[in-house]
Amino acid sequence: MKLASNSNLPEPDRALVLKDAEQLTFLEVPAAGTKRNLSPLPIATGSPSQRERVRLEQKYRDAFEHRLDWRRLVTYVPNKGLPVYNWFKYKEGFSRELVVRLVRQFGLQKGDIVFDPFVGCGTTLLAAQELGLHGIGVDILPTSVFVARAKLTKWPDLDEILSASQKLLEAPFREPKSTFPRDVRIINLAFTKETQAELLFFKEETEKFQPPFRHFLLLGLLSILESVSRTSKDGQFLRLVDKKIPPVREALRSILGRMAADLSELRTFGQEPKTKAVVRQGDAREMCLPVRYEGRVAAIITSPPYLNRYDYSRTYALELCLLTAKSHRDMVNIRHSLLRSHVESREHANKAIELPALDLGSGVSFRSFCENRPKIEDGHRCFCSSRCFFSSLASVL
Ligand SMILES: C[S@@+](CC[C@H](N)C(=O)[O-])C[C@H]1O[C@@H](n2cnc3c(N)ncnc32)[C@H](O)[C@@H]1O
Repeated sequence: MKLASNSNLPEPDRALVLKDAEQLTFLEVPAAGTKRNLSPLPIATGSPSQRERVRLEQKYRDAFEHRLDWRRLVTYVPNKGLPVYNWFKYKEGFSRELVVRLVRQFGLQKGDIVFDPFVGCGTTLLAAQELGLHGIGVDILPTSVFVARAKLTKWPDLDEILSASQKLLEAPFREPKSTFPRDVRIINLAFTKETQAELLFFKEETEKFQPPFRHFLLLGLLSILESVSRTSKDGQFLRLVDKKIPPVREALRSILGRMAADLSELRTFGQEPKTKAVVRQGDAREMCLPVRYEGRVAAIITSPPYLNRYDYSRTYALELCLLTAKSHRDMVNIRHSLLRSHVESREHANKAIELPALDLGSGVSFRSFCENRPKIEDGHRCFCSSRCFFSSLASVL
């Protein structure tokens, strides 16, 4: 398939090819005349598992298209300069441009419904909204759900937002009534006692506002957590760093000012979205879309978590503790509930799944093979999880 915009893409960078290609998954309702290619893998076909793998690859070869020339779009980096998209740094996200290209490639029309079962910070739905499409998103992480919903809000009058921000920023400090979970170790490592008190104070103050103002202010507060902490998001977890930490009030003033400026700019140059975007909290392995959406989803644009790469409950531990988690136990429950993208998540309950193509060779039982190779077992579970959500997706399309 050829795209007119390909010529604008930068030169290939070999180091990025595998990494980026791995993260993108998309299913589509194919546009008429779409041609796809899948290059065969250079594998021996001797063992039963490899034969099964080849059979599956043959069977589904028309369902995949490799676009390594789009690899730079499968990262959050292009969103960093985009209003609203950049309100919350979500390094695991993909770009608006990727969604725009896929929507064009799939031949979607205004009013169509796009679904993202791993909605993250809402990139798919935001881009869909811009293009006049309706969107439904699901994510298991409460912070993602909050951030995606907030970014997709149809904000009221800008003056009201400015005055709410002003009121919050001028509130005189008092000792907060609430506390962070005492048994989550990273909180005391990340924040000084003063910063914790300021953050909790501002969180309590945001609760005095009605939605959607409360959500606007709280999103601002969530967005500054990394900058007022001694941590840096580092893929797998939070890395402790030595850096100058700004006062919470100043960091908040800066982000709320920037968010309001974005809205003002969008009002000047854009139009109010007329489409609907719904974000639900849920597990993609147990698709929970209302029946009314069944058979009505025109495309699924999504990126599930990497295998053994990110533990979102650790990367977003600070945000989770400010937003919902009350204890270490809450954090552990969230960690276990995530798709098998890291070594601590749990197997999905009551799903015994046969994956013949992942058998590890004749004469070696899976269990005994795994005993010395935990990573392989993690991989197997991840694919079992993936099989669950792919089955769920099939019921939605
Ligand atoms: C790669 S990110 C998606 C980023 C998104 N494309 C964006 O641009 O913001 C994967 C998301 O899957 C979510 N996730 C992990 N396990 C899940 C599950 N079982 N069900 C639904 N969402 C899950 C994570 O919380 C994370 O937000």
